[in-house]
Amino acid sequence: MEFAKRLQPLQSNVFADMDRAKAVALAAGRELIDLSLGSSDLPASAHVIEAIAQSLYDPSTHGYLLFHGTQGFRQAAANWYEKKFGIKVDPETEVLPLIGSQEGTAHLPLALLNPGDFALLLDPGYPSHAGGVYLASGQIYPMPLRAENDFLPVFNDIPAPVLAQSRMMVLSYPHNPTSAIAPLAFFQEAVAFCQQHNIALVHDFPYVDLVFAEDQNRGLLINSDLSLVPSILQADPDKSISIELFTLSKSYNMGGFRIGYAIGNAELIRALRQVKAAVDFNQYRGILNGAIAALSGPQIGVEKAVATFRQRRDTFISALHRIGWQVPTPKATMYIWAKLPTTWSHNSQEFCTQLVKKTGVAAAPGAGFGKSGEGYVRFALVHEPPILETAVERIAEFL
Ligand SMILES: Cc1ncc(COP(=O)(O)O)c(C=O)c1O
Repeated sequence: MEFAKRLQPLQSNVFADMDRAKAVALAAGRELIDLSLGSSDLPASAHVIEAIAQSLYDPSTHGYLLFHGTQGFRQAAANWYEKKFGIKVDPETEVLPLIGSQEGTAHLPLALLNPGDFALLLDPGYPSHAGGVYLASGQIYPMPLRAENDFLPVFNDIPAPVLAQSRMMVLSYPHNPTSAIAPLAFFQEAVAFCQQHNIALVHDFPYVDLVFAEDQNRGLLINSDLSLVPSILQADPDKSISIELFTLSKSYNMGGFRIGYAIGNAELIRALRQVKAAVDFNQYRGILNGAIAALSGPQIGVEKAVATFRQRRDTFISALHRIGWQVPTPKATMYIWAKLPTTWSHNSQEFCTQLVKKTGVAAAPGAGFGKSGEGYVRFALVHEPPILETAVERIAEFL
């Protein structure tokens, strides 16, 4: 059968490649320590599960859910946003439920790009950002992220002809995979740049809460230092060109429930809503009820997640330093972005394939997140500290 050309660039996927390597290691009898996927191992909070469980027995939740039926969720998202960032949002026109932030990033290009238009993406970056552009038959201009620039893109390096045909830019800080954070001044520069060039600015913001302030006690508060991890709308309070995507996957350990939301410019929200109306009927109402409970109820689960990932980060980084692998300590996210030793600096895929084959430790190759990710490897801290210590011991033997 002949398939559409747009499928071709979607055929290689870092997670699918690692899945195959993991299966080979398992078949060879290795005990797997999987640090290749950013899927939290922590549970969703009891009050969230209770809200969903009760909904299941309520037949009024069983039918299709139209936009007006999502009002309670949109209001909860607007309240959550206003409380956190002090910016008012209209739940009618400036909030849209998503089936996870991945879904939003993958569908937005369909609303913004005509075939051949450019999207300016972070390189390395999250795969759905590129995937959505391919589905929309757009072109990608990768903005390289380099350690010497704190993994922030340099806007002035974008060639003028590309800019003339660019319709969207996607940023995402705290950043997956590099764990970098971006200051408000960077977002202000991005907003001014996109306004000047008439480009829609998309900010994918899953790690809004997974932030580790310098001060140990303050680190336990949820995104306690907003100057460390600002929202794009703090740089664009009039919501002139910006849209921000949130998810409950990371802060509330609800990755499997598939729920998120977009907040921002009303025209962008309307356009994304039009695309989604052709594709889905909103998330199940019971999940929305669970999400309302998560956003509006006690935040102790978020605090626990932050404390857990902070401890794991410290354990993993100390262990790497002990074996002589010097890796900077990230201020946010659940990832360690490690520069590979020179033997492997041009082949992160081979490093990860050999590592899992010989030791059972699975990591994500930097090149899988884009060309500029080559020479790095990403470890997701999705196991308890003793397992992370074992992983590093095995890595030491391998190296
Ligand atoms: C940058 C980024 N965007 C989106 C997602 C997916 O989020 P969701 O579960 O809401 O689709 C992830 C998950 O790891 C991510 O790191």
